[in-house]
Amino acid sequence: PQIIYLDEVDSTNNYARLMAEKINSDFLVVADKQTLGKGRMGRSWSSPAGVGIFMSLCIKPEMAVEKTSMITLVTAVSLCDAIEELYPINATIKWPNDIVINSKKISGILTEMSSDMDGIKYIISGMGINVNNKEFPDDIKDMASSLLLETGILADRSKLIAAVIYHFYKNMNIFLKTGDMSGLKENYENHLVNIGKDVKILDPKGIYQGVALGIDETGALLVNAEGKIKRIISGEVSVRG
Ligand code: BTN
Repeated sequence: PQIIYLDEVDSTNNYARLMAEKINSDFLVVADKQTLGKGRMGRSWSSPAGVGIFMSLCIKPEMAVEKTSMITLVTAVSLCDAIEELYPINATIKWPNDIVINSKKISGILTEMSSDMDGIKYIISGMGINVNNKEFPDDIKDMASSLLLETGILADRSKLIAAVIYHFYKNMNIFLKTGDMSGLKENYENHLVNIGKDVKILDPKGIYQGVALGIDETGALLVNAEGKIKRIISGEVSVRG
């Protein structure tokens, strides 16, 4: 894809939204620093200069609006594939899309979509990766870590960006063959930390407790709760280990 590199921006997702109206093909916005990095559920994303990867990939797939959440899962496996290509470490996914190493969050994904009567206009997959950070702000330091802190390896960020994009398009091709997660389910589940573990799901309809079994072809988390299999759909749910 075309690459737009910025020294500083409020949020690469916001910038990509503006550019999506003007650029017809896929493109990638990369920034060294964000002044208003956005996380999921209205949270912020710590985005200091020089140490992280903050980027948003804008794609224009022809598919139903409901499938947008699956692109987040495609992105999550791609981040794991890229990290594992460059570092001698297992990257894991906390469903649906936090990348966790040694129980600490290394990377997060914020997917945004725009649609009209004809379907999806564009999807922006925003990725934040803590690469060479040596420290974190007090409020997140217990939960967050970086690839440097977990592996001792100081990495070239541009190599990791290239690897993420390579694996994203590789996995997107697998996804597009069926238009669902069936071709990527095995890869995704191999990275899923929750599998076989007790999870507590907090969603607007209630709290479920059970054992995570894996995902189905839509990307929903399957949970065995008192002998009944529940499908948990990503969105405003929170999963606690
Ligand atoms: C999360 O809450 O886990 C998602 C974090 C997503 C952060 C990335 S950094 C690049 C892109 N631009 C943003 O403002 N957010 C995403």
